Amino acid sequence: MKKLVIANWKMNPQTAPEARRIFSSIEQRMHNINHTEVVICAPSIFIAPLSYSAHRTNLGAQNVSWAAEGSLTGEVSVNQLELFNVRYIILGHSERRINLGETDEMVKQKISIILKHKMVPVVCLGGEKGANKSDMKKIITKQFKTAISSLDKKELLKCVFVYEPVWAISTVKNSKPATGQHAQEMILFIQNMLAKKVGKDHAKHVRILYGGTVNKNNVNQYAKYPEIDGALVGAASLDPDNFWEVIKEFDREAVHRV
Ligand code: PGA
Repeated sequence: MKKLVIANWKMNPQTAPEARRIFSSIEQRMHNINHTEVVICAPSIFIAPLSYSAHRTNLGAQNVSWAAEGSLTGEVSVNQLELFNVRYIILGHSERRINLGETDEMVKQKISIILKHKMVPVVCLGGEKGANKSDMKKIITKQFKTAISSLDKKELLKCVFVYEPVWAISTVKNSKPATGQHAQEMILFIQNMLAKKVGKDHAKHVRILYGGTVNKNNVNQYAKYPEIDGALVGAASLDPDNFWEVIKEFDREAVHRV
C-alpha cells in the first residue's frame, strides 16, 4: 500500500502565481517518487487553474457541500470538483468544526456524497475546541462513530482517516506536535475501531494518517512507524522544499518495507 502525503494549504497562498509556483515545484520533482501518493488540497479558487498542471500530483479540496446541487451560497459541489479531477476531499478539520460549525452529522452526509462520486473522503478526527491529550480517545470515538454510521463495509474501506489532535496544529496557541509514539498509539486505536466493522485484515488496508505540525525536522518521528500511513501537512506544505522533505521521508520508509 502506498503512503499518502496530503498538503492542506488552508486559505493560502494569496495569489494565483504563488499557488502555481508552489504546486509546480512539487509536481516537477515527483518523477522520483514511486511509493507515495501526494495530494495538494488547494483553496477552491485555485483548483481549476492548477488542474492543468496536475500529472503526478493529485488535486484535493478542503471542503464540499453535502448537497449535490441547489441554493447554498458559498458552497462548492462534488460535481464542480469532479470537473477538475479532484480526487480527495478533507472533511471534519478542526478549523471547520470549531470556527465554521461543521458537525459530525455534516461530515457523515459529506462522506456519503463523496463516495457516490467515487472520490475519497479524508476524515479528520481529533478536532474539538479546548480538547487536550487525555480527551482524545473519547472525542475521536464519538466523531468516528457518527461519521461512518451509514456506511457499509465496502464504503468504509474507501475512506482515509487522519488523527489530527487540535492541540498539535501549528497555528493553535501553545500547540505542541504529538510524539510519534502517541500518533502511532492513536492510529492503532482508530484501526481497532475500524477492525470491529470490517475485520482486522481489511482494517490494515485503510490508510490512517497523522496531522499536526509535521515538517522536515520531525517527519522521521512519524514516518518510522509502519502503522502511520502518511501525513496531513499544513504550514510546511506551503514551502516546497520543506514539504518535499516530508514526501521523501515517507517514500524512503515505504521503499524499505516493499
Ligand atoms: P499544521 O496544520 O501542519 O500547520 O499543523 C495541519 C492541519 O491543520 O491540517
